[in-house]
Amino acid sequence: MKDKNTKENDLMEKIVSLCKRRGFVFQGSEIYGGFAGTYDWGHLGVALKRNVTDVWNKAMQFHRDMTFLDSSIFTSGKVWEASGHVSGFSDPLVVCNICKEKSRADHLLESISVKADEKLSELEINKIFDENRAKIKCPKCGGKDFGKIRATNLLATSNLGMFDEKEDQVYLRGETAQGIYINYKNVLDTGFVSIPFGISQIGKAFRNEISPRQFLFRKREFEQMEMQYFCHPDEAMKNYESWKKERMEYYIKLGINPKKLRFKPHENLVFYAKAACDIEYEYPFGWSELEGIHYRGDYDLTQHQKFSGVDMRFYDEETKKRYIPHIIETSVGVDRTVLMILCDTYNEDELGGSKRIVLKLPPRLAPVICAVSPLLKNKPELVEYANTKVYAPLKAEFGRVAWDDNGNIGKRYRRQDEIGTPFCIVVDFDTLTDDTVTVRDRDTGEQERIKVEDLENYIKERI
Ligand code: GAP
Repeated sequence: MKDKNTKENDLMEKIVSLCKRRGFVFQGSEIYGGFAGTYDWGHLGVALKRNVTDVWNKAMQFHRDMTFLDSSIFTSGKVWEASGHVSGFSDPLVVCNICKEKSRADHLLESISVKADEKLSELEINKIFDENRAKIKCPKCGGKDFGKIRATNLLATSNLGMFDEKEDQVYLRGETAQGIYINYKNVLDTGFVSIPFGISQIGKAFRNEISPRQFLFRKREFEQMEMQYFCHPDEAMKNYESWKKERMEYYIKLGINPKKLRFKPHENLVFYAKAACDIEYEYPFGWSELEGIHYRGDYDLTQHQKFSGVDMRFYDEETKKRYIPHIIETSVGVDRTVLMILCDTYNEDELGGSKRIVLKLPPRLAPVICAVSPLLKNKPELVEYANTKVYAPLKAEFGRVAWDDNGNIGKRYRRQDEIGTPFCIVVDFDTLTDDTVTVRDRDTGEQERIKVEDLENYIKERI
């Protein structure tokens, strides 16, 4: 019998293989041997990712006081000096003295089951590493001879617009949040919102991760969905608690197994944070951060006020007082969400006496909502009906509708199960006389006869 770890690794391998086989995700720059920490999204991956961002957007739009932003990836280098990323955004790098492999010290400690919080200082992590040196092995050569731990900055640099060495260093953004802070005044000045209000943003972020790993979990180029809520200091803690509650409920409503979700309070708060926790998911490789929820105080706006000279205070008409709002942040990666959804919905079961792989995706997340098939592809009357009376109107309404006439019906069902298509619709000879089709349910395999004119509503009710 396989031990738990092997089974978990198997599951990750199966998911990676399914993603490639069916066109969800490909290794970045694959034909050139790959480019570590990058992945390219295929046809189905793009659709799944878009459904994930749509659901998040809708959850944010639900708030009357929410606004949306799409700020630049490239910003003035000053933004990252003010935010503290230039001086303090780093990972603990350790190099093997034998094979020169670069690793993250906290990951090596984890491999021997020694906890090392990501937020530890360089001094603290060096101390823990030194205490455990004798037990730690290099993942590449197995050697036990390592150099000293060095804090390595995570910001990726660029030369965009730099034509003179004396110009300030340019960075690719390490998080989307800074774009929100530097636009907070702009949004406030539009007059549509007042304190309290939120700014939501979805966009790419870049980090020079030392050891990108676990497929979509830790990438060098990834996408974040971040929301910053600006409020009065006296209201901040209450808002922090209510965002915590809302974000957990969001995942449960999405259909994620509640037993695999938990809050983890941060043990070592950064000096400016008033409270912080993660929502963790139990990935095949263990409980790991999915989303961060942080009460950041007035740190970010104060820093940008100091570095830019722009007054970041809000003038309260009622009290006639000025103050810098406090910020509650919710921050989650699109890639980590997709990985969680794949892990949560991947199943191998038996249906109708044969084994199958099935992604039990909630209909609103499924890349393909339904597949339409003529029972036989060499019968023009079936093809014509399926195409014009079923596929075309559904495609126009839902977009994410597939035409599938390849192989026999059993094979088509298996193929659609593997990509998580909730409904397969088959046009057969009866359809030509009674205008009904067979709709087969992915999870139960049960089939119903539905009138063609009712198909649109049938699907809408189930999304
Ligand atoms: N603005 C706060 C912030 O960026 P973070 O904990 O560094 O906080 C927030 O990142 C979220 O972004 C994480 O919870 C995770 O979902 C995602 N994330 C961070 N680094 C990532 C990486 N290298 N690859 C994929 N997702 C990542």
